[in-house]
Amino acid sequence: MKKVMLVFGTRPEAVKMCPLVLELKKRASIETVVCVTAQHREMLDGVLAAFGVVPDWDLDIMKDRQTLFDITVNILNSIREVLEKERPDVVLVQGDTSTAFVTALACFYLQIPVGHVEAGLRTYDIYSPYPEEFNREAISLVARYSFAPTALARDRLLAEGRKPETVYVTGNTVIDAMRRTVREDFTHPDLEWAKQGKLIFITAHRRENLGEPMRRMFRAIRKVLEEHPECRAVYPVHMNPEVRKIAEEEFGGCANIRLIEPLSVFECHNFEARSFLCLTDSGGLQEECPGWGVPVLVMRDTTERPEGVEAGTLRLVGTDEKTIYRAFTELLEDEEVYAGMAHAVNPYGDGHACERIADVLEGKPFVPWDPDERG
Ligand code: UD1
Ligand code: UDP
Repeated sequence: MKKVMLVFGTRPEAVKMCPLVLELKKRASIETVVCVTAQHREMLDGVLAAFGVVPDWDLDIMKDRQTLFDITVNILNSIREVLEKERPDVVLVQGDTSTAFVTALACFYLQIPVGHVEAGLRTYDIYSPYPEEFNREAISLVARYSFAPTALARDRLLAEGRKPETVYVTGNTVIDAMRRTVREDFTHPDLEWAKQGKLIFITAHRRENLGEPMRRMFRAIRKVLEEHPECRAVYPVHMNPEVRKIAEEEFGGCANIRLIEPLSVFECHNFEARSFLCLTDSGGLQEECPGWGVPVLVMRDTTERPEGVEAGTLRLVGTDEKTIYRAFTELLEDEEVYAGMAHAVNPYGDGHACERIADVLEGKPFVPWDPDERG
């Protein structure tokens, strides 16, 4: 029996790891242990509840307005005991959060093999996104298994010198999660309100955007919304108090936007799927929206997800007020430009990534995801 421990701590990691927990629990030769750091608290608990995952360990480290030092030190100090008690054969981490990086570091110190889910994403700009680019590059250094979502991610890992026999193209587990969430009969009071116009879905939280870049993003969006009363914007505001303050100050008194509490993952996917367009700096939304043919304006200077840009559904607009204003306005006013972006593609997976990862861990024959055959 192989003991596989999954460690995660934030909302997006939970969305992408819970389907894998459920898949691993089905496998007879694997004992599955779940440890959450609770780098996020409420936003993590909502996803755990949605998927019915109950952690075996909860490090409960979240503090209000935590710094990178807080997160790093608190996880490193508390995970050691868990790893020493459980002695897992392999530890799985996901993506590029501090939870994932610090867990990989702790495993390295204890010489426990690490499996990296969603490996090989890069901007090669160490400050963008910050600190995520550093985190994922560092995790790759210690990973025994790299589960790359796409062929491009695999190629980057190989170019960096990772051994081919340690890199597996699986697709992204977020596509597996999406198979469980979107329902025809979904309703929500804010969706009913928004459906009377064009639903514009907004999220924002990146550390490097806090402060003036985020204010510029929101000012541009507000201007367009005021000029286009047919738009009805819904913005589930991240729980970071800094984000909340800026959102309330910049959108206060704007009639056609609703600032709401974070949505459950089921609600969020159902809103996304029904949106006219999405404005975001989120990583996950860049992977989810293309599948529903929803154009995304990515309010960041870099993206580690060029597959969606290449497919035409994502456009990188940075954080400059004028650029966001123009791109948003164009999508509302130019039907041809809109149609050019609004086609459903799924460059990130076929919904079977978790099965492939479980097969690798069980030592079964591995069949990589081939988007040309199965996408
Ligand atoms: C973290 C990740 C980021 C990921 C994002 C997903 C790091 C350094 N950052 O950023 O990669 O994209 O999660 O959302 O790993 N808060 C609550 N309740 C919650 C969650 C957060 O109150 O359930 C508040 C707390 O005051 C907390 C703050 O938000 O201190 C920021 O949380 P933190 O995890 O440090 O940063 P994120 O911006 O969420
Ligand atoms: N999400 C959610 N509720 C919300 C906003 C986002 O469930 O109110 C989900 C979203 O569908 C995606 C994930 O959270 O799966 C993205 O999280 P976030 O944008 O916080 O982090 P990132 O992906 O940028 O790391």
